[in-house]
Amino acid sequence: MEKGARSRAMTNRKLTISIFRYNPNDPVNKPAMVDYQVEESERMTLFMALNKIREEQDPSLVFDFVCRAAICGSCAMLINGEPSLACKTLTKGMPDRITLVPLPFFKLVGDLSVDTGTWFRGLNERTQAWIHTDKKFDPTDGEDIMKNKTAQEIYEAERCVECGCCIGGCATIKMNNQFIGAAGINRVARFMVDPRDERTDGQFFEIVGNEMGTFGCIGLMACDDYCPMSIPLQNQLAYVRRNMAIAGIKG
Ligand code: FES
Repeated sequence: MEKGARSRAMTNRKLTISIFRYNPNDPVNKPAMVDYQVEESERMTLFMALNKIREEQDPSLVFDFVCRAAICGSCAMLINGEPSLACKTLTKGMPDRITLVPLPFFKLVGDLSVDTGTWFRGLNERTQAWIHTDKKFDPTDGEDIMKNKTAQEIYEAERCVECGCCIGGCATIKMNNQFIGAAGINRVARFMVDPRDERTDGQFFEIVGNEMGTFGCIGLMACDDYCPMSIPLQNQLAYVRRNMAIAGIKG
């Protein structure tokens, strides 16, 4: 064996990936953790490992992915107990044994796949996530000028990929399944800072100024820890809560 090939062979670890398997549509199927052995390769991500398992060992394994680049948010799962994106997680530095289970709270589709889409669609409706304005569109108008700082704040909130990691890690939502979650509060913050949205703080209060909204959060801040896009969710929560508290006092 050549020297380079020998050193490569020596560095390849055997990983044991323990995966939650369950088909909720099969009445005789029972939930179980199933172990798979995978040889680690250079710069392997958990998405690559899952793909390898599906291609080489078990084609029935269900998991979601689209972009493989931390953009679409579809590959979120609990990785060794913590919500994260499989396509963004390198196996390097992880223990030899890795446990993967689906994100809690969302409806299970099968194995590691959950339906986040229905919940996020409902969230858009709850937060009325569109620009509210009486201004009529005029195609001959120039573009709306916006301060750089404001545009940056909107962009920061827009970076949410709706993966559901903040929801899967949220203690509040486990006790109160109507809680809007950090993704919802972030969505409201996005429209509150947008000068084109003509809603008053009082109108935002109607949406989020309650126990299902910004006042329901018990402040453990797992959302902030687990957001794979590093959106400052703690700051977004503080921003919305402060404005809603003032709106509540004013009535
Ligand atoms: S596959 Fe799109 S975020 Fe992971």
